[in-house]
Amino acid sequence: MARWIILMCLLISIVEARRHCSHIYNVRNYDAIANGKNDDSKAFLKAWSDACKSRVSASVVVPEGTYRLNPIVFTGPCKASITFKLKGTLIAPTNNPSTGTTWIDFRYLNHLTVTGGGKLDGQGASAWGRKNAHPVLMTMGFAFVNNSNINGIRSINSQNVHITMFMCENITLSHLTITAPGQSPNTDGIKMARSQGININNVHIATGDDCVAILTGTKNVNISNVYCGPGHGISVGSFGSNSDEFDIEDIFVKNCTFKGTSNALRIKTWASPLDHPLKASNIVYEDITIIDVEHPINIDQEYCPSANCGNKVSSGVKISNVSYRNIRGTCQGDVAVSFKCSESNPCQDISLENIVLKRSTSSRETLTNRCSHVNGAFSGEQFPPSCI
Ligand SMILES: *[C@@H]1O[C@H](CO)[C@@H](O)[C@H](O)[C@H]1NC(C)=O
Ligand SMILES: *[C@@H]1O[C@H](CO)[C@@H](O)[C@H](O)[C@H]1NC(C)=O
Ligand SMILES: *[C@@H]1O[C@H](CO)[C@@H](O)[C@H](O)[C@H]1NC(C)=O
Ligand SMILES: *[C@@H]1O[C@H](CO)[C@@H](O)[C@H](O)[C@H]1NC(C)=O
Ligand SMILES: *[C@@H]1O[C@H](CO)[C@@H](O)[C@H](O)[C@H]1NC(C)=O
Repeated sequence: MARWIILMCLLISIVEARRHCSHIYNVRNYDAIANGKNDDSKAFLKAWSDACKSRVSASVVVPEGTYRLNPIVFTGPCKASITFKLKGTLIAPTNNPSTGTTWIDFRYLNHLTVTGGGKLDGQGASAWGRKNAHPVLMTMGFAFVNNSNINGIRSINSQNVHITMFMCENITLSHLTITAPGQSPNTDGIKMARSQGININNVHIATGDDCVAILTGTKNVNISNVYCGPGHGISVGSFGSNSDEFDIEDIFVKNCTFKGTSNALRIKTWASPLDHPLKASNIVYEDITIIDVEHPINIDQEYCPSANCGNKVSSGVKISNVSYRNIRGTCQGDVAVSFKCSESNPCQDISLENIVLKRSTSSRETLTNRCSHVNGAFSGEQFPPSCI
C-alpha cells in the first residue's frame, strides 16, 4: 500500500514538474549565444515557435546578457496566452540587413505580456545622422494584438519610433522608461493608429519627437502619470492629410508632467481639404503640470509640413468637445494657449477651466493666448486671460 502511495506521489510530481517546466522557453536552451555580436534571432524564433504551440500559458525567457537581434517577427495566433520575459539587453543592428521597418515586431496575438525589467537598445546614434542609406528601424511594434500588457521594460536610443501600435485593442503599457536624446529625429515614444482601449500609465519618456502620438482611427485611450521631457509632448495627430483616415475620439490625459518640451497638449491637423469630414472629439486633459514648455496648449489646424499643400487651405477635420482642466505651470514662449482652428470647420465646445500659466523667467514681454475660429467657454482661474 505504502509503495503504491509513494509511486503515485512520484508520478504526480513528475507530471506537475513537466507541466510547470514545459511552459518556460529559455532562449539559452535554443543556442542563443548572448555575446552581443552574433545574431541570435534564429534562437529567439525557435523558442517563440515552441512557446506559441504550447496549449498552456507559455513564456519565452531571455535571461540576463546581451543579445544582438536582426529584425524579428513574433507571430501568432498562439494556442494560449504568451509572455515575452526580457531580463537581458537586446541590441539592434546598425545596418538593417532586411527591408523590415520594425525591429521587434509582435503580430496577430491575444493575451500577450511583454515584461521582465530588460532593455531594448536601438543603437539609434548610427541612424540619426544618416541620409536614408539603410531603412531605420522602429524599436518595438504591435500589430493586430489584443488584450495585452507591456510593462517594466526600457527602450533606449531607438533609430526611429520606440513603440508602435497598429490595429490593437485593449493594451496596457505601464512602468516603461523610454529615452533618446532631445535632438534625435523621429524618435516618437509611443505611437498608435487604428487602435482602441489603450491604457498608458506610469511611463517616463525623454525623447526627440512626440512622447505619445495618437493617430488616425484611435479611440478610448487613457494616459495617466506620464512624464514627458524632453520631447514634443502628447499629440493628437498629425491627422487629416487625406480622406482614407478615420475619426479620433475619447482620449483622456490625466496627471501628466511636461518638462522642457516644445509642446505639451497638442492637436495637429493638416491644412488639407477632405472628401468627407473627419472628427477629433471628446478629448480631456486634466491635472497637468507644465514646466518650461514652449507651446503648452496648442491646436494647430494649419499644419503643412510640405510645401505642396498650398496656402490658406482650410483643414477638413472638425475638432469638438475638448476640455482642459487644471493646467498649471511655466512657459518659455510668448503664447500660452494657441488655438488656430479651421476656418471652414471651426473648433466647437472647447472648454478651459483653471488654466494658470506663467513665464519661466521674469521677462518683460507679456504672455498671451491666441484664438482663431474657436467656440467654447471658460471658467475658474485663467491666466493669461482666456481668448475664447
Ligand atoms: C483582435 O480583435 C479584433 C476585434 O475584435 C479581431 O478582429 C481580431 O481577430 C483579434 N485578433 C486576435 C489576434 O485575436
Ligand atoms: C476589449 O475590452 C472590452 C471591455 O472589456 C471588451 O468588451 C472587448 O471584447 C475587448 N476586445 C477584445 C478584442 O477582446
Ligand atoms: C478610461 O477611463 C474612463 C473613465 O475614467 C473609462 O470609462 C474607460 O473605460 C477607460 N478606458 C481605458 C482604455 O482604460
Ligand atoms: C500624479 O502624479 C504625481 C507625480 O507625477 C504622483 O506622485 C501622484 O501619485 C499622481 N497622482 C495620482 C492620483 O496618480
Ligand atoms: C464630451 O466628452 C466627454 C469626455 O469624453 C464625454 O463624457 C461627453 O459625453 C462628451 N460630450 C458630448 C456632447 O459628446
